[in-house]
Amino acid sequence: MRARYPSLAGKRVLVTGGGSGIGEGLVEAFVEQGARLAFCDIADEASRALVARLTPGAAHAPLYIGCDLTDMDALRGMMAEAERALGGLDILINNAGNDDRHTIAEVTPDYWDDRVAVNLRHMFFTAQAAVPMMQRAGGGVILNFGSISWHLGLPELVLYQTAKAAIEGLTRSLARDLGRSNIRVNTIVPGNVQTPRQMKWYTPDGEAEIVAAQCLDARIQPADVAALVLFLASDDARVCTGHDYFVDAGWR
Ligand SMILES: NC(=O)c1ccc[n+]([C@@H]2O[C@H](COP(=O)([O-])OP(=O)(O)OC[C@H]3O[C@@H](n4cnc5c(N)ncnc54)[C@H](O)[C@@H]3O)[C@@H](O)[C@H]2O)c1
Repeated sequence: MRARYPSLAGKRVLVTGGGSGIGEGLVEAFVEQGARLAFCDIADEASRALVARLTPGAAHAPLYIGCDLTDMDALRGMMAEAERALGGLDILINNAGNDDRHTIAEVTPDYWDDRVAVNLRHMFFTAQAAVPMMQRAGGGVILNFGSISWHLGLPELVLYQTAKAAIEGLTRSLARDLGRSNIRVNTIVPGNVQTPRQMKWYTPDGEAEIVAAQCLDARIQPADVAALVLFLASDDARVCTGHDYFVDAGWR
């Protein structure tokens, strides 16, 4: 039984990296709320399967736009296509990211640029393109996905954690500059969420270690993250901006 937010029905929403993992849960949750939604991804097969799964019975069928967000021309084309298809934009969810592991010694300047492009740069440029659309609509919401990882200082994730730390600074800066346009900007900070990709990293022992470090005896699901995102995207959160909201079962 999920909460219903009347203010989300008919809203124009874009989710990046919506084809799998947490993004898939976000797409599903917004479609259930009756939002008009587009999502982009590089995972073509999973994304098409998601559209096929959610379209029957949806008030508004989700639209998939194939786009590699590290390609700036593709990003700009995707934003224009979303604007045309939705007739504008009210809510931008900057979810896409990639947490590939690396040691310090392995990092080259090209790899640095690649990791910043996949985890940080696109969040600024999707927001930059979304702002005029939101201003025309009289306001909007931008939610950027950070991570618990750098708060904990996890191993072999230097570049991912550097980007994720920067996202909290990006959020605060955008919230300040866009507040007078009635655009709210917040960071979602997930703990360890049970997605198909995460399940690749963790053994049952590793999973037990995470649960032991959390306050709560629970494994976080994409739907738990979506619940926080829906609230922050809705008008119920009309005075929430410039902050970082954790959904981590109290992981320390
Ligand atoms: N799962 C977790 O435990 C966890 C924890 C902390 C933070 N996060 C953050 O939450 C967000 C979602 O994570 P997830 O676990 O669902 O990840 P995921 O890897 O399962 O899904 C990410 C999605 O983004 C897409 N994507 C990746 N690179 C892309 C690109 N260049 N262009 C377009 N799409 C691209 C992928 O294809 C995938 O569908 C990320 O920002 C991640 O850093 C996740």
